[in-house]
Amino acid sequence: MSVHESVLDAVGDTPLFRLNRITEGLPAAVYVKVEFANPGGSVKDRAALAMVREAERLGDLRPGGVIVEGTSGNTGVGLAMVAAQRGYRTIVVTPDTIAREKVALLRAYGAQVVQTSGKVPRDHPDHVNNMARRIAEETPGGWHANQYDNPANPRIHELTTGPEIWEQTGGRVTHLVAGVGTGGTISGTGRYLKQHGVTVIGADPATSVYSGGDGSPYFVESIGHYLHPASSVDVWPTAYDQGVLDRFERIPDRESLMVARRLAREEGLLVGGSAGTAVAAALRVAAELGPEHLVVAILPDSGRNYLSKYFDDDWMTHLGFLDAPQGPFVRDVVPQRGLAVAHAGHTVAAVLDAHPEGLVAVVVARESDAPTRSAPEVLGVVEAAQLRTLVAADPARAGDDVATHAGPAPALVGAGENLVDARARLDGDGPVLVLVDGRAITLVARDVLEQASATSG
Ligand SMILES: Cc1ncc(COP(=O)(O)O)c(C=O)c1O
Repeated sequence: MSVHESVLDAVGDTPLFRLNRITEGLPAAVYVKVEFANPGGSVKDRAALAMVREAERLGDLRPGGVIVEGTSGNTGVGLAMVAAQRGYRTIVVTPDTIAREKVALLRAYGAQVVQTSGKVPRDHPDHVNNMARRIAEETPGGWHANQYDNPANPRIHELTTGPEIWEQTGGRVTHLVAGVGTGGTISGTGRYLKQHGVTVIGADPATSVYSGGDGSPYFVESIGHYLHPASSVDVWPTAYDQGVLDRFERIPDRESLMVARRLAREEGLLVGGSAGTAVAAALRVAAELGPEHLVVAILPDSGRNYLSKYFDDDWMTHLGFLDAPQGPFVRDVVPQRGLAVAHAGHTVAAVLDAHPEGLVAVVVARESDAPTRSAPEVLGVVEAAQLRTLVAADPARAGDDVATHAGPAPALVGAGENLVDARARLDGDGPVLVLVDGRAITLVARDVLEQASATSG
């Protein structure tokens, strides 16, 4: 009989197949390792199973124990799957920014889900990892899997993913491309393949700190490294071995998401955003190689985890990644000036000096030369005229932190949204932040949209 004794025996040995249409005209072949073929639906099944086995061997996890992990979802699903099969309970701490499908999945496997802010500094007690550690300590029989620093995570990729790719390509693979979250996948797989002379390329969100970005938020989940500006130290996972990487390709959200969407429509491959990042990088790499080369990209999970995000046209349009089917568009009525920004912590006087009039976005204080700001970093809005009135009435207010005078975070609208639909969608009367590719390009008063939509409606 060709059967498995349990679902856990089906982890690994995922298929590798060639991309055909999206690669048209490229000199080198691109193959993809489809990790959504694991029984829990992602590359993380490998690490989850390996970490649990090792903890059992070491006696850290005992019968009746509770597995605790901080994760953006897939490791939690992998752990919950292993736990269900082995008779453990699972508590998963996730950032509140992850796709809701992932939370539903965790619950479906019987995991207890604790959500915490995805936007607190690394040393904050509510940070995902700190919370997971604390829950593990306080729970009888608790064991913190800690994928970020658990050596079993990269090791399983060195023992399985790397050799699988080598064998499946008959030793012809020349380039490996993968995203870096905990770094387990690329470090382990890359370490093995490097012994065979393979070049290892990290596919990183453009603003991720790993490849030199400013650390501001991006919309592809589970890879790269976000840096909260108030983090006193920037902690990188020890599972990530930088020495294994030869270089990075830095991929903006737009490119990742468009490639993910094309993979579904042109290759019949429904994959997540981080797979889009990996394939986008692989396409860039393959364009510079010859027919003697063979590129392998690792696709960590399925697009089914993101039907409410990357595969939802409304979500994409509201964030400025897509245009509505028909105009008039928001961008048609928005004045073509940039975004006036003030860092939280700046004084009212300094802000008035820099921006004597108009609407000013109060943003998270971060060193950045970028002309646009990641939308989640806009904390509120001030109007220069109001600040002037304030200071005229009481000159001492000039020394106030501008953030204490900011209104709430503005409503978001995509530059490619249909004007009339956007007006109908937005409640309230505050200013509106206009987004292109998930980044704020300008602020407009609500009546600009209202008047324009009344004229065109
Ligand atoms: C969808 C997705 N992509 C990429 C990764 C990154 O993999 P790694 O943590 O091995 O670097 C993860 C990890 O959780 C993931 O869930």
